[in-house]
Amino acid sequence: MVQLTLPQNSKVKNGKTWSGPKSEGASSLKTFRIYRFDPDTGENPRWDTYEVDTKLFGPMVLDALIYIKNEVDPTLAFRRSCREGVCGSCAMNIGGRNTIACTKGHDEFKGKITISPLPHQPVIKDLVPDLSQFYAQHAYVAPYLQTTTPEPQREWKQTPQEREKLDGLYECIMCASCSTSCPSYWWNGDKYLGPAALLQAYRWLIDSRDEETGSRLDDLEDPFKLYRCHTIMNCAQVCPKGLNPAEAIASIKTMMVERRV
Ligand code: SF4
Ligand code: FES
Repeated sequence: MVQLTLPQNSKVKNGKTWSGPKSEGASSLKTFRIYRFDPDTGENPRWDTYEVDTKLFGPMVLDALIYIKNEVDPTLAFRRSCREGVCGSCAMNIGGRNTIACTKGHDEFKGKITISPLPHQPVIKDLVPDLSQFYAQHAYVAPYLQTTTPEPQREWKQTPQEREKLDGLYECIMCASCSTSCPSYWWNGDKYLGPAALLQAYRWLIDSRDEETGSRLDDLEDPFKLYRCHTIMNCAQVCPKGLNPAEAIASIKTMMVERRV
């Protein structure tokens, strides 16, 4: 399969214009300009335009996409599952900003809404990016408890204070909005782990129950994996869960320094 890496500013030609059914006295038409690409056809990417009546579907951008797919153009491809900001699968670029479509209201946008896949990832079809590298990076940080002492009979215990340290980290839904909004990740995504994987790395580094802190830090000690974060902060600005991966990355850098002294 031919794959395309799409920079946000790439020149994509305009394609078809579609009009959906209108409700009576329709006064709530909205235009969605959506990136279309099917590598298997050998055709260039294009922008299709859909004029739809927002009275006929729910309030979120994902409601509009589902409506377009069901009622106007069944060939449109996108991912979604939970429809309530939990699974992370509906992440895409909406109005120039990465976010998840199921919690983004279409009435938050004045005029036309432009929707494209998460930037700088290979495109499988339309709004569906290939996130294989992103998931491999998540696996690299071993996002699970690692211990060396014998297992306790019932459970690994934590004090409420130790548990609190995981707040702001465990809530990540792996949507990839942060990593794919990061210029460092765009240019060095094959070597830099990116904000999402590093947020998870930190989540396990500071888990009081984990006993592999040293080897976890060893695995990040490299000129690219961690240190390609230049505190650009796009990650924290776009995260739909309000998390701050840049802060977590800074904390890992501090741990690296502290273990040398
Ligand atoms: S940190 Fe936020 S933006 Fe990044 S993957 Fe997790 S939920 Fe998505
Ligand atoms: S569909 Fe699950 S986060 Fe949007």
